[in-house]
Amino acid sequence: MTNPPERKKNTTLTLRQKKARGEPITMLTAYDYATALAVDRAGIDSILVGDSLGMVVLGYANTLPVTMQDMLHHCRAVARGAQYALLIGDMPFMSYQASVDEAVRNAGRFLQEAGMDAVKLEGGHMRLEAVRAIVSAGIPVMGHLGLTPQSVHVFGGFRPQGRNAEAAQHLVEDALHLQDAGCFSLVLESVPDRLAELVSKRLEIPTIGIGAGAGCDGQVLVTHDLLGLFDRFTPKFARRYADLHGEMGRAFREFKNDVETGAFPALEHSTGMPEEEWQALLASLGEQG
Ligand code: KIV
Repeated sequence: MTNPPERKKNTTLTLRQKKARGEPITMLTAYDYATALAVDRAGIDSILVGDSLGMVVLGYANTLPVTMQDMLHHCRAVARGAQYALLIGDMPFMSYQASVDEAVRNAGRFLQEAGMDAVKLEGGHMRLEAVRAIVSAGIPVMGHLGLTPQSVHVFGGFRPQGRNAEAAQHLVEDALHLQDAGCFSLVLESVPDRLAELVSKRLEIPTIGIGAGAGCDGQVLVTHDLLGLFDRFTPKFARRYADLHGEMGRAFREFKNDVETGAFPALEHSTGMPEEEWQALLASLGEQG
C-alpha cells in the first residue's frame, strides 16, 4: 500500500496552479482556533478571516464597525489552528481607504503580527494604487468585487451588483485592472452567474465566487451560514450543510435539564480522594467519619 502524498502548506501559487489544472478551489471563513482546525483538517484550500466576523460573531448589523484590533485578534487565533490552508486576512473598513501609506502598514500587520499569508480588500479602480503599493511591499492581495459589504450604504443595502450592461462592463474592467495591479486572486460576490463566468475566463488569476454561480474558479461561504450557526438570516446563495444553532439549543437544554434533575455531574465526571486523606481531613476538622 502506498502512503498518501504528504500534505503541503498552500500558497498563492497553489491556487493559481489549481486554476490552470481546472480544479475547483475551496475557501471558507473562520474566526477562531477550533473552527480553523476543523476547516484545515477537512482539506479546504484557503481560510478567509473575513470581516463578516462583525456580523456573525460580534453581532453588528454590518461589517463597518470592525476594527484592525478585532481582525488581528481573530487572525491570530485562526493562525494557531490552521497548518496547511492559505490564510487570508480581510482588511476592515477604513484600514486602507484613507491613504496608501496606511493601507501598506495595515496590510503588513496581518503578516507580521497575525500569521496571515495574504490580505483581501474590497473595491476596483479606486483601490488600484493601494493594491500596487501593498503588493510591492511583498504582501499578496486578493481583490473583492460585486457586492462589497463595506460599501453597503453606497449600494443602498445588501443587493446583487453588475446586473445591467454598464455596471457589468465596469466590473469586467475593474477585474482586469486588479489583476494588472498584482492581485493573486479575486472574490466575486453576488453578481450574475454569466458575468462571473465571463470574468473568470478572461482572468489568469483565480476567481472565488460567493453568490456568483458555478463558473468561478472556486467557491467561498461564510462558515456560520454553512453550519446554520447564524440564524438572523441566511443569504439566498448560501447552502446550509448543518443546523448547529438548533443543535446547540438542544445540547444547552439537555445540560440545563441534567443539572436540574441531578443527572449531571455523574461519578465519572468527579475527582476522587484517597480514603485515608479524607479520614485525616475529617479528624482535623473534628467531624465524624
Ligand atoms: O468577510 C467575508 O467573509 C467575505 C466573504 C463573504 C468573501 O468577504
